[in-house]
Amino acid sequence: MSDSPENPDTPPWAGDDEADNAKPSATELEAAGQNSMFGDPEPAPAPALTPATEPAPEPAPAPSVEQPSVPATPAPEEPAAAQPYRVLARKYRPQTFSELIGQEPMVRTLGNAIERDRLAHAFLMTGVRGVGKTSTARLIAKALNCIGPDGQGGPTINSCGVCEPCVAIAEGRHIDVIEMDAASHTGVDDVREIIEAVRYSAVSARYKIYIIDEVHMLSRNAFNALLKTLEEPPAHVKFLFATTEVDKLPVTVLSRTQRFDLRRIPRDMLQDHFASICRKEGVEAEDEALAMIANAAEGSVRDGLSILDQAIAHADLDAGEAGTTVRAAKVRDMLGLADKGAQRRLFQHLLEGNPQGLLAAVDQQYALGVEPLALIRALMEFTHRIAVTQVGGGEADASTAEEREALGEWAQKLSPGQVHRLWQLLIKGHDEVRTAPDPLVAAQMALLRVLHAADMPDPGKLAKQLKDAALVGGIASGGTGGGGSNAAPSGGAPQALNWLELVERVDKSHLHNAMSLSTKLRMQVRVIELAPGKLVFAQPDGFEENIVPEIKQALLELTGERWDIQRTEGEGAPTLVEQDEALRRAQKQRLESHPMMEAVRTHFPDAQLVEPVEQVRGRKDWSRTG
Ligand SMILES: Nc1ncnc2c1ncn2[C@@H]1O[C@H](COP(=O)(O)OP(=O)(O)O)[C@@H](O)[C@H]1O
Ligand SMILES: [Mg+2]
Ligand SMILES: [Zn+2]
Repeated sequence: MSDSPENPDTPPWAGDDEADNAKPSATELEAAGQNSMFGDPEPAPAPALTPATEPAPEPAPAPSVEQPSVPATPAPEEPAAAQPYRVLARKYRPQTFSELIGQEPMVRTLGNAIERDRLAHAFLMTGVRGVGKTSTARLIAKALNCIGPDGQGGPTINSCGVCEPCVAIAEGRHIDVIEMDAASHTGVDDVREIIEAVRYSAVSARYKIYIIDEVHMLSRNAFNALLKTLEEPPAHVKFLFATTEVDKLPVTVLSRTQRFDLRRIPRDMLQDHFASICRKEGVEAEDEALAMIANAAEGSVRDGLSILDQAIAHADLDAGEAGTTVRAAKVRDMLGLADKGAQRRLFQHLLEGNPQGLLAAVDQQYALGVEPLALIRALMEFTHRIAVTQVGGGEADASTAEEREALGEWAQKLSPGQVHRLWQLLIKGHDEVRTAPDPLVAAQMALLRVLHAADMPDPGKLAKQLKDAALVGGIASGGTGGGGSNAAPSGGAPQALNWLELVERVDKSHLHNAMSLSTKLRMQVRVIELAPGKLVFAQPDGFEENIVPEIKQALLELTGERWDIQRTEGEGAPTLVEQDEALRRAQKQRLESHPMMEAVRTHFPDAQLVEPVEQVRGRKDWSRTG
């Protein structure tokens, strides 16, 4: 059974809450004529069966009472004593369907079936551990056999909890409700016993109910034996099966049962549930602590309650005057969880494009024992929640104010496209980290890649950044097609920038010939020297026109200064148009090798980069008319 390996301290059987009680042997049970492992405090009702190992078992959950009849808890928790463990999961087993959280659809269907008296002969409860399968089976047993406070009632989804059958079932001593754990009774003999008994009608109740937990554990023969009964069960018999591994059930069984798939419980609901249990226990708990527990529970109430148990035990140990408080920091340690705040800072570095900060944060988390993979997963979670926040358009759903604020801010700042790219890059990183020989190094590399991609947010901005980067890197000295590019003087870049500014001033001016002049300046001027009041340039091959007087006139009008303008032979820096072309080529090249393109290509193998977006280098007004 799937439960046991994860939870070595529980015996491999379903109502794992009975874990801490010594279980009566099969023989003892048989001797008693039934397999009643029912009811939480099994020892109480059938003392003869119970090896008296635990005289004061966990408080029996009395039906209907909120705080179960806490029988002998006068000695208030000696941490070091025999029972430091509270076993909340057992104490808070739902006693009514209204206490069963997160399974509303199932309860509704069940309610309808009961109301209309359309009950299947056999029900099957499926779902991961700790979502309420066993609890549901017991609740159904109550629902079917409840007779109401006045003894006149019929089956009802709202069992009264006070009538004799209700009480007896809750206490696990109802003679017609037989619970069997298939994990420990897998054989055909066990089943045969049931089958024999099926023929006799219920002793005291409306229905004779067989609960078979972890039913997938039954042997094939046992299943076959069961099938005959399932085909034509007597009207007074109901079978309630529960299993974590429905795939292992024979179709023949599946087809004879009405199936209910119990869902994992949503995080929020778990957190609320744990909060209410803390209140009942008189324990303070920080929201973030409960959120972490709810998260770690992965949808299982039972798992969450076990963690909460531990957390409370830890909190008890260092409880001060103020009483027990479950703190986030403690829970984080306990779960080996990463610090949410630290994760947020890491994410922030990623978005801000701060590689030093990023690497430092990764190292720090690693030093604290956070697995690189867990780190990436945390970042993925942020990304996902940002996307959800964007879709929702409202407040971010988060357990703390800080987190809510951060998520809200990111949701605003990032475009949906960016969020999706982030996600893709992270998922790729996740895969790499998972398979890498050195996960830490892989995580660093993956995150750096994300960082470099993340600060190039959308294609438009991306192009602009590439352009800027190219400018700074002196793209002019790349392989421009115009020839003579290598001769660009070392001071070429700043000169080119000034030149560009100057040309842009011409663009924006009200000179009568601004447009044609601007075109000439961009196409024909290879700057050799540019200083205030002085321009020395070469003209590329093929341009014969003497443009000196025109430039002189324009610059005089623009600057109010008489310029010394010389046209000479020589190389000079590439013209602005030549630079544009070089840039565009470089841009395209860089885009092609950009991780984002890589991502695009994995999803759209035929994708081609057609033309870099947005105009380059100060050409925005170039085609302006008028
Ligand atoms: N849906 C639920 N609502 C409230 N508590 C639940 C729920 N599911 C599980 N629990 C808690 O977990 C414990 C074990 O639940 P159980 O019904 O045995 O789970 P399963 O049979 O699915 O493993 C219960 O005693 C209860 O404390
Ligand atoms: Mg169970
Ligand atoms: Zn009742």
